[in-house]
Amino acid sequence: MDRLHSVADLRQWRAALSLPQSLGFVPTMGALHDGHGSLFERAAKECEVVFASIFVNPLQFNEGKDFERYPRTLEEDCEFLESKGVAAVYLPDHQDMYGDGFDTEVTPGRAGDIWEGRFRPGHFAGMLTVVLKLLQRAQADAAYFGEKDAQQLFLVRQMVKDLDLAVKICGCETVRESDGLAMSSRNAFLTPEQRQHSLVLFNALQAAFKAWQEGCRIPSALETAMRKVLGQTPGVAVEYCAVVDDHDFQSARQDQAGVWRAIVAARIGETRLLDNQSLGRSDET
Ligand code: PAJ
Repeated sequence: MDRLHSVADLRQWRAALSLPQSLGFVPTMGALHDGHGSLFERAAKECEVVFASIFVNPLQFNEGKDFERYPRTLEEDCEFLESKGVAAVYLPDHQDMYGDGFDTEVTPGRAGDIWEGRFRPGHFAGMLTVVLKLLQRAQADAAYFGEKDAQQLFLVRQMVKDLDLAVKICGCETVRESDGLAMSSRNAFLTPEQRQHSLVLFNALQAAFKAWQEGCRIPSALETAMRKVLGQTPGVAVEYCAVVDDHDFQSARQDQAGVWRAIVAARIGETRLLDNQSLGRSDET
């Protein structure tokens, strides 16, 4: 696997690919786990060449402490990427990504200020900015993102559409631990007791899904079902818990048919976790 440390290395590598091979791109921040792994596997199924990036993007961390303590496991990550058949990994440093005098940011649309955006001001602007730069640099045919970060995926799709980027965005299902906890690089911070408590996010989403399957189509009732579960566990500070319409990521409305998704974020000690569950079309039973 080639390790590319600068945009010049990347362009050279990109130019040497014999076209028309299809190129799949998976952007990450490293500390790779099987959730990321599923993105590489899907990309490998759909594209001839798979390319990854690892860059812990300071612009999208609204808390300096979170950026400092974000896990960095480069050698293990490279082994993992090799095992997945990834052809090259781009490992830019701060200077390569932002250079001197960097001064432009992407402004997310309406869905950028709610849910994650409300609790992490500036996060989505920083995320979209780096994703735009990475997509421009990679010039891939398809880029792979996880549904685990459903609002991120929504905003990336919106940006690609609005700014006419010629790349296909593919959303991949959330990969979970055997007990249901969504895999995340931040799970490594949980103490054994917090790890137990963290299951409450999945359980709350399951409660909403069960109510949905039983025919409930009232967003506030689905939220109440989630909050009831979330309220049962000590040490869990809920930031938001809601049902949104996948079409615009705004609160789902009972009087408007749509595809609904339950979303939740909570702090467990110092660690912030988020998860979501697609419910289905509200006008179909
Ligand atoms: P990171 O958290 O490293 O995640 C990289 C990709 O892996 C994202 O698309 C994320 O949704 C996906 N992913 C993470 N956990 C997953 C899981 N359990 N199941 C399925 N997919 C999962 O998200 C970022 O990095 C950054 O914001 C980035 C897009 C790289 C921009 O900096």
